[in-house]
Parts: sequence; structure tokens; C-alpha cells
Amino acid sequence: MIILGIETSCDETGIALYETGRGLLNHALYSQIDMHSEYGGVVPELASRDHIRRILPLIEQVLNNTQRQLNDIDAIAYTQGPGLAGALLVGASVAAALGYALNIPALGIHHLEGHLLSPLLSTPAPQFPFIALLVSGGHTQLMQVNGVGQYRLLGETLDDAAGEAFDKTAKLLKLGYPGGAALSRLAEQGRPGRFKLPCPMLNSGDLNFSFSGLKTAVLTLVSKQHINPQVSADIALAFQEAVVTVLTEKSLAALSLTNLNQLVVAGGVGANQQLRGHLTRKAAAIGATVFYPQLEFCTDNGAMIALAGAMRLQANDKIQHNTTGSFTVRARWKLSRVQNND
Ligand code: KG4
Ligand code: ZN
Repeated sequence: MIILGIETSCDETGIALYETGRGLLNHALYSQIDMHSEYGGVVPELASRDHIRRILPLIEQVLNNTQRQLNDIDAIAYTQGPGLAGALLVGASVAAALGYALNIPALGIHHLEGHLLSPLLSTPAPQFPFIALLVSGGHTQLMQVNGVGQYRLLGETLDDAAGEAFDKTAKLLKLGYPGGAALSRLAEQGRPGRFKLPCPMLNSGDLNFSFSGLKTAVLTLVSKQHINPQVSADIALAFQEAVVTVLTEKSLAALSLTNLNQLVVAGGVGANQQLRGHLTRKAAAIGATVFYPQLEFCTDNGAMIALAGAMRLQANDKIQHNTTGSFTVRARWKLSRVQNND
């Protein structure tokens, strides 16, 4: 069965073809980052319009790369939410129209479900059940994943997401938007121990997070220091260390609370090398293994949506197979409600 995956929830148009039993056939991505960076953040209307420009050529591209025709597709999986309503509508309407024209199902997929299943695109892949740390620009959550559609929320951020904190701190350090990767590169030049920032909620006794206080602490630090490239790098390092410490300790606590020994890290912040190194070492010390998606599948992409669609179809759950051409999007949508098809 060949599944076309369509991701348009934010500022990346991601298209993929996935074949059950074989794996990912091809994927293509267009990132709008350059267009939005001059505004310091994603401009929703520009995002929607750009998805419209990119989506059909990208679908043609993956079909050409794999020498397939539209008629070879057996189902379509598209991101139904959460995300920017206008951006989601582009992917959903193309998926619904293609599904109607080809008389094949168009499945709405939860964006975070795509992220947390994305490590299954790599080998070795984790086995159910596992703990997933979802760290993206919009979300920070610890989930227990027992199977496709069986997700239990263990903890989440009470305010900013980890990626959002990276981006806001990067902005304070004048690193542009989105600044997570740039901040991480700058931190490599930082002097360890030069600054110490608080690790919010490290000892809160639960698995929740909070990052807005950390951003304020950086703001205070920046206003007190004479900023030069070295001081910027020192602050970037101190910030990254605080975030990495909290994410690592809470992930380990989730493993021990649930007695599980596999941790999956998904979402854009999962690309952070310091987080990867730290988590891998600390998890190994307690006999646990950490799985990361390949770097290209950490940030938004169509492959994870195609995979999630394939797994849902294979699980043959009661998801409604839409072949009517109608569609809805869910700009706000809790992952914990997905299993109920709610
Ligand atoms: O998952 P994603 O592509 O988009 C959302 O669904 O939000 O994640 C994007 C986020 C941004 O906040 C970006 O700054 C952050 O991931 N990010 C990083 C790194 N690469 C991307 N944060 C820290 N270190 C990185 N290397
Ligand atoms: Zn994402």
C-alpha cells in the first residue's frame, strides 16, 4: 500500500511517499524560513499562500523521483492539526480533493502523532511501549506511547515550549528567527560555568515544565552584561545547559516512573546536539536507550505524516476514511484526544 503524506501545519511544505512493508520511498520539503525571518516570526497569511504555491509541484516531484503516478497511491495522510488554520487548510483541501478524484481515503493525522512516531522511520526503531519527549516550537510534552493511537500524557509545559524558549532567547541574542539551531552553534564557543541560569521546575516533583522564567532570566542577564560575541556565547551555553538539564532529568524521571527503558526524542529541539549527547549518556547510565529521528525528520516533514497514516491504516482502527471530498482542520487539538477520534 502506497501512502502520500502531506504536511502544511506551519512554515514547511512536506510531501512524502511511504510504502507499507518497504518504508519511505521519497520525500521533499520546502522551508519558508527565509521568507518569514525578515518579520521575526511566521506570518500566517504568507505561510498559507506559499503552501498553495509549493504543494502541487512537490507532489509531482516525489512522484517523478519514485517513477510513480497518482493512480499508484492507495491513501493520503495529511496533517489535520494542530497548527495555523489557513496553512492546514491548504494540505487538507488538496488531500480531500485528491482522495475524492482518485476514490481513495484521505486520513487526517495529528501533527504531534507524526513527530512521536518519526523515530520509527530509522533503524533500529523503538518497540512499543516507549516514552516520547516531544520538543518542538509549539509543544513540550512527555508521553507514554503504548501503541498507535494509545498515548498517555505524563507532563507538559505550563507556558512556553522548549523551542519557543530557544527562539525567544536567540532573538534576545540577535540571532534571527527561528534561532534554536543558531543559538546551539553559538553555545559551542561558550565558556562553561561563566554564567549559571535557573533550571525551572527541576524539583517540582512532577513531569511538567516551565520555560518562560528562564527567558526572563536571560533578559535580565543580557541587560546587566556588556554584550560582546564571547558573552553572547557564554549566555547561549548557560541557557542551553539549563534547558538540557531539565529535559534530561524529567525524561529520566518518566522512564523510572513507568518502568520503561526506551525513550524517543521528537520535534525540532531533538536536533540539538548537546541534548542528544547528554540524554544518551544519562539514559545509558540507567540502562535505557534513546532513539532519535534522523535529523531531517526531527523538524516538520511529510514522511512522519505518511508513516503515521500507514500505521493507522495497518492498525485498521476506527478512523473515518474520508472519500467524500469534505474536510475539516483542527487548529487546536490535544494529542491525548486522538485515540478516541474525538
Ligand atoms: O518540530 P518543529 O520543526 O516545528 C514545530 O512543530 O514547532 O520545531 C521547530 C523548533 C524551533 O523552535 C527551532 O528553533 C527548534 O525547533 N530547533 C532547535 C534546533 N533546531 C531546531 N532548538 C535547539 N537546537 C537545535 N539544534
Ligand atoms: Zn512540528
